[in-house]
Amino acid sequence: MVQRIRKAIFPVGGLGTRFLPATKAMPKEMLPVVDKPLIQYAVEEAQAAGIEEFIFVTGRSKTAIEDHFDHSYELETTLRERGKDAQIAMVNSWMPQPGQIAYTRQQVPLGLGHAVWCARNLIGDEPFAVLLADDLILADIPCLAQMVEVHRKTAGNVVAVMEVQREHTNRYGVLDVEGDDGRLVSVKGVVEKPDPAVAPSNLSIIGRYILQPEVFDHLAHIGRGAGNEIQLTDALAELIRGNKPFHGLRFSGTRFDCGDKVGFLQANIAFALARPDLTDALRKILNGYC
Ligand code: G1P
Repeated sequence: MVQRIRKAIFPVGGLGTRFLPATKAMPKEMLPVVDKPLIQYAVEEAQAAGIEEFIFVTGRSKTAIEDHFDHSYELETTLRERGKDAQIAMVNSWMPQPGQIAYTRQQVPLGLGHAVWCARNLIGDEPFAVLLADDLILADIPCLAQMVEVHRKTAGNVVAVMEVQREHTNRYGVLDVEGDDGRLVSVKGVVEKPDPAVAPSNLSIIGRYILQPEVFDHLAHIGRGAGNEIQLTDALAELIRGNKPFHGLRFSGTRFDCGDKVGFLQANIAFALARPDLTDALRKILNGYC
């Protein structure tokens, strides 16, 4: 019987220097796409995949995230007085229940692998998900739900993957492919940010992972890797050498790199066009520019 994925880690400790000055006093995960912060999209995606425990690995200056996932009594009182019940639902309905959210701090910025490792005691001995809020995915079936479905059949580890331009492999964790049925890829290795000339493929990891808890043992002893940081991908490479299955899923949907300004702008346009209340007005504006 495959163990259910109940817990998810959201690494939100990064500084967001690429979005300065917007991120000077505001976490980058609070940047809105249309009218919703990136981190809320990630949490809603996790909820849709059956996640019950939400673990945020935060850093200094990230309290706005905690406030976002809490009641705002002044706001609710004012909205109630004005009879705006629909808006009260809009600010509350997606909030995890009391006790379902936990926060732990990554005290030193040592990389994604280190951030995930910081959550080890909150995860314990069960498989779990990791979601990077920078990677926003527009999909009919939310990406993590697609992965949970795969995990039910394959067990082991599952990462979301997509083909990227070969000259961009140095931005991603890249797969060394063993077998490929067009949707599901079995993996014999992974490399973090390889130079395009030596990358084993152009199939790259997008920020969604389902991982076995053994990854924490590897994270505890691997040294620093690419960018002089403790890389999650390096621990995945060790996991693959173990005997648990490891698969990449070419998910259905469109991914936007919201860690990048152009990707972020593109996400805003795509998500607004997908909104019935905005699409006509935005189409008119875009036509005016074209
Ligand atoms: C991180 C991971 C990388 C992955 C990418 C997906 O890189 O280290 O393996 O492919 O997320 O967005 P970062 O974007 O933090 O440099």
